[in-house]
Amino acid sequence: MPLGWAAPIYDWYCPKLGLGPKFRAATIALAKLRPGMKVLEVGCGTGVLTRLAAAAVGPQGAAVGIDPAPEMIAVARQKAEAGAQFRLAVIEDLPFADASFDVAFASAMLHHLPPATKDAGLREVFRVLRPGGRLVVVDLDRPANPLWWLLFFPLLAWPMTASNLRGEIPGFLARAGFAPVVRHGRWLQLLSFWTADKGGAS
Ligand SMILES: C[S@@+](CC[C@H](N)C(=O)[O-])C[C@H]1O[C@@H](n2cnc3c(N)ncnc32)[C@H](O)[C@@H]1O
Repeated sequence: MPLGWAAPIYDWYCPKLGLGPKFRAATIALAKLRPGMKVLEVGCGTGVLTRLAAAAVGPQGAAVGIDPAPEMIAVARQKAEAGAQFRLAVIEDLPFADASFDVAFASAMLHHLPPATKDAGLREVFRVLRPGGRLVVVDLDRPANPLWWLLFFPLLAWPMTASNLRGEIPGFLARAGFAPVVRHGRWLQLLSFWTADKGGAS
């Protein structure tokens, strides 16, 4: 489900939902980015995280954000800084060669995908990561308090969000081939951070 309609207000709105600079810094920290690394963000939206990744990997590295919403990609390109590139594409058909990236991010985007697309998309991310590469995921998880359950239980009826709320994201990551899959804590008692590594580094 592309989110083009939200593009004009997205960067204003996210911090008001608690997804501001501290949230972005917590996400970036899990990737352990170093200068020269190649980074992919799937479902990049307006490109906030891709720009932070580009700054972290410096001029020898690169960060590419992909998103199927032309409106999101247009905003991302307007705001792009050195080293950050943006392309129209979907996670389930990534236009990149095998083993092209050291690190990938999927931030607040898996809950936009029905289960079959989560599976297909995560297999694609696995393919384009190099052996030893890392995927950092942050997304909806099982709510950690009753109030959130009260507000969010209607989303159990929606195929895109139901598997998130049932706590199934680690299972999707493992099925795509990632190991280990590690949860690193929660955000607002509603989202979780995970790292999912691709083995096989020499
Ligand atoms: C809530 S936004 C998250 C944007 C950004 N990653 C962030 O953390 O702010 C989810 C994004 O996923 C994108 N999206 C939806 N379906 C997608 C797909 N099949 N492949 C890649 N991105 C998709 C939407 O267009 C939207 O921009």
